[in-house]
Amino acid sequence: MKKDIHIVKRLLTAALALSFISSAHAAPDGAALYAAKCAMCHQADGRGIPAQYPPLAGRVATIASNDQGRAYLGHVLINGMTGMLRINNATYVGYMPSFRALTDADIAAVLTHVASLGATGNKATIDADTVHAARTPPLSPTAVSTERRGLVAAGIVP
Ligand code: HEC
Repeated sequence: MKKDIHIVKRLLTAALALSFISSAHAAPDGAALYAAKCAMCHQADGRGIPAQYPPLAGRVATIASNDQGRAYLGHVLINGMTGMLRINNATYVGYMPSFRALTDADIAAVLTHVASLGATGNKATIDADTVHAARTPPLSPTAVSTERRGLVAAGIVP
């Protein structure tokens, strides 16, 4: 009997150790981050609210298929953005908050999730190194909007 209890204790300790290891190494869940931090504005399906919160579904998939586009997405998440956007005949004059407090891996995961919304064909991914590089130099939210205008002119941001 005493021996049984000993075995049970050892099994429990092993199970606990395993669950700790797997949670410590779990990859960030982009869909869960999106639901918790972005969906209140951009909506669960990423379609946004016309003239209030821009649609991301389908559009970020396109932006993320280009190197400069991926850098821009990193800049938006890290610095936030404010300025005027025009998308599908709607005007957005809003403020996108900065998410610089999230880790590189979290930002990469949430952006990769957004790039999958409404994506047709191959899905683009954004990696943590790209996000890390986008942290320097720090940009003002207005400077990010200026960067965006250049990318619209170049056909990278739809
Ligand atoms: C408080 C509302 C709000 C939250 C929360 C928010 N956003 Fe935004 N987002 C905006 C607004 C408003 C804009 C447009 C800003 C402007 O007018 O310059 C924007 C712009 C963007 C853009 C640029 C789109 C384009 O067409 O260039 C991306 C990408 C984006 N948000 C992703 C996210 C992600 C990912 C999250 C969650 C981590 C998030 N946003 C959370 C309000 C929000």
